Amino acid sequence: MIEINDSVETMCDIDIEKIPLLKALKEYSDRDIACFDVPGHVRDNGVEILNKYFGKQIMKMDINSSPFMDNVSNPTGIIKESQDLLAKAYDADKAFFITNGTTQGIHVMILSCINPGDKILLPRNVHKSVINALILSGGIPVYIQPEFDECLGISLNLSIEKVEKVIKEHNEIKVLFLLNPTYYGACTDLRKIIEICHKSGILVLVDEAHGAHFPFYSDLPPSAMKCGADMSAISLHKTGGSLTQASALLIKNKNIDEKKVLQNINLLQSTSASYLLMSSIDGARANLISNGSEQLAKAFNLARYAKSKLNKIKGIEVISYELLEKEGVNFVDETKLCINVSKLNLSGFEVYEMLYKDFGVQVELGDMYNILALISIGTTKHDVDKLIKSLVIISNMANGKVHDNKINIKQIDPSVKLSPRSAFYSIKESIDLEQSENKICAESIMAYPPGIPIVSPGEIITQEIIDYIKLLKENNARLTDMKDKELKTILVVKE
Ligand SMILES: Cc1ncc(COP(=O)(O)O)c(C=O)c1O
Repeated sequence: MIEINDSVETMCDIDIEKIPLLKALKEYSDRDIACFDVPGHVRDNGVEILNKYFGKQIMKMDINSSPFMDNVSNPTGIIKESQDLLAKAYDADKAFFITNGTTQGIHVMILSCINPGDKILLPRNVHKSVINALILSGGIPVYIQPEFDECLGISLNLSIEKVEKVIKEHNEIKVLFLLNPTYYGACTDLRKIIEICHKSGILVLVDEAHGAHFPFYSDLPPSAMKCGADMSAISLHKTGGSLTQASALLIKNKNIDEKKVLQNINLLQSTSASYLLMSSIDGARANLISNGSEQLAKAFNLARYAKSKLNKIKGIEVISYELLEKEGVNFVDETKLCINVSKLNLSGFEVYEMLYKDFGVQVELGDMYNILALISIGTTKHDVDKLIKSLVIISNMANGKVHDNKINIKQIDPSVKLSPRSAFYSIKESIDLEQSENKICAESIMAYPPGIPIVSPGEIITQEIIDYIKLLKENNARLTDMKDKELKTILVVKE
């Protein structure tokens, strides 16, 4: 029996001196200053409805940059101090706050290391922000197929052998981009892959959108910085406790031009970056240092408890460390519960919808065969029990009908005809999806979440892709980013 202590006392008495930006923001908002700058709500004076629903304290702390508060476009004071503490916490040489999510962090990493025409090696199961960064930078993708789990219908991570092979085949690769972990928690042997890449003079950039908690608990996979990656982007807001959109960029390579990185941040970041977001990073960092290991230990126990209970439900199976037996998976983040529902007479999309509509349970995502439930530093046993009870009822409803609803999902193996940028800027036309086989796609189409493109600009549309899109439509997947929301037509490069 797994013991769960639902009352981990988190220290709210962390010394405020250790949270310099948050401290400065609180003091600044408490000062009697006649404000003739933006924002126009002027602390808690202008918009009563927001005071009522957000609270006066938040409105007072929503300020713009001032000489007292440093400036994120060129930090030299309090923001720099707080960024340096973040770098130390992550074992990085340098950290930058990013206020438009890891999406922006990924754009900055790629723009900083890739010039138009440079080749970048990447797995195909990347987030759409990576493909969009190639449109911005003019980089040329060289895809490596990640390993694939047929039973779960999901892509895993990269095997060392495939990375070595592709590096041998392409001698002009400048950058390897990879995920640590995948959305579902699978990590490769990052240290080894980085070693191989560095020997060939290849920079390694890592998407750690789902791994901001890794350095703070010993049973989690090793972080990109620990493994020696050159840069990584972390969504502190996903698993680290900061406010939504508050991410960070980490650097661990003295040869990376920090000034160029900052220029690229400033190319993409608002000149009015939110102090609430930035100081939430400062607070989340302090919390992870003081309470992270205890909170994550609790999350781990909860995840194992949930797994043991869920695995007793008919038609349901939780897959976590079992992935370690697969190629391309050397570490697994067990706090990501990949709950396979393929033996119910339901798709993951349907279970996802039933959970939020009928049971008041919001999971991270549903796909064809699975739902993904994230157990994080804020998850409670009460909520885990609610998830378990809801799935017991859903399983009972499916009872009698329980069967293997396997539709054979295969990994898409795209053929790239044009760079994402050339396709994006080409002359385009909308044609019937059914008639689009062998055309060059000029837009990205994906289910969100996870936001991994099924097809992206520059790739040949195959019958397999058309069938997969139709299957997702039939299963009510939330398809996004395409011009025609109904997806009766698709945008292609005009011949
Ligand atoms: C793998 C992956 N990378 C990057 C991102 C983008 O992160 P953010 O939402 O912080 O912009 C996401 C978002 O879901 C993601 O799943």
